[in-house]
Amino acid sequence: MKLLVTGGAGFIGSNFARYVLSEHAGDSVVVLDKLTYAGRRENLADVADNPRFEFVHGAIEDREVVDAALEGCDAIVNFAAESHVDRSIEDPDAFITTDVIGTHVLLEAARAAGVGRYLQVSTDEVYGSIEEGSFTEKSPIDPSSPYSASKAGGDMLVQAYFRTYGMPALICRASNNYGPFQYPEKLIPLCVLNALAGDKLPVYGDGMQVRNWLYVEDHCSGIDTVLRKGAEGDVYNIGGPDECPNIEVVNRIIELTGRDESLIDYVTDRPGHDRRYSLSSEKTMTLGWEAKTRFAEGLERTVAWYRENENWWAPIRSGDYLEYYQRQYGQSLA
Ligand code: NAD
Ligand code: DAU
Repeated sequence: MKLLVTGGAGFIGSNFARYVLSEHAGDSVVVLDKLTYAGRRENLADVADNPRFEFVHGAIEDREVVDAALEGCDAIVNFAAESHVDRSIEDPDAFITTDVIGTHVLLEAARAAGVGRYLQVSTDEVYGSIEEGSFTEKSPIDPSSPYSASKAGGDMLVQAYFRTYGMPALICRASNNYGPFQYPEKLIPLCVLNALAGDKLPVYGDGMQVRNWLYVEDHCSGIDTVLRKGAEGDVYNIGGPDECPNIEVVNRIIELTGRDESLIDYVTDRPGHDRRYSLSSEKTMTLGWEAKTRFAEGLERTVAWYRENENWWAPIRSGDYLEYYQRQYGQSLA
């Protein structure tokens, strides 16, 4: 199978490209990526010379580029998105362009080309917040942020293309990912790098918001399972095995980096902050998938990866990133 992996230079997409190339010897991968601040060729350095891999620089909202990249592909897996909630609160425009319009352009290109399979990589955030119990695929869509609303818009288009045009499309919705190659604007890599450098660890509000943590490799195996075994027109949740309040996540990072609690900095809460995410993945498990990595083990591996890969993150922690950090947190890094 030849896969078009859009957004494949980002965190999860690059892990997925690597996963497919190593797990499926007969498959090839074309990555199409706009290379925004979050997309980096370095994330794909170890597969760049693989004869079954190709990289195309371009945006999913650009139909000409998409048509060219799609030539000869059997399936599309769409990771391309603006993905950070805080940036969507600061400036939502790019979220609508990529997550909604970009998805629409991809669907139109897939329809014209008669692509055999379209998988939309979505998020549990489209369901909003849940105080008790867990979301299933039948839970109503109730997004809170411009980010989650833009992802919900993309999902609605995918569903409409299945119902109206019979597009062989599926959607998977995952919980919070963590692991190697995650851009350090998200809670875990931000706190790991700040802790290693001795910078403050910003905790929003009371730090008691709960997230359902999924190691990125488990997400990749879940996407791969849904892509190959899922039923057309269906939604599949891919949740992590453990839930944890943010303050406990931060405390575990402090332990793993040998720091102390004096680094914790309680800062103003995120507007519209979802209190808890929790996903039931029973339906995806009926396809034979399960998350293998418990949070304690995955976090240890993640901290070790960032410790060992300063050459990957050092160039990020400069320039635009420092400006973003100053705007977001009102303070500079050491
Ligand atoms: P990321 O921000 O690390 O990567 C996004 C990638 O998309 C980058 O390489 C970027 O350059 C590319 N991109 C952005 N706009 C583009 C455009 N218009 N055209 C082409 N490429 C474009 O994001 P991520 O964390 O890897 O998330 C990937 C996908 O998974 C997203 O769709 C996100 O909504 C979804 N998701 C993420 C998580 C998570 O915890 N990170 C959880 C569930 C679902
Ligand atoms: O649930 C899936 C979603 O998980 C994905 O769809 C998103 O792309 C991804 O960014 C993530 O969204 P969150 O908003 O949950 O992740 P983030 O890492 O930004 O924040 C995790 C929690 O930590 C959240 O409750 C906010 C809090 N937080 C975050 C940052 C960046 C802090 O307390 N301090 C921080 O500095």
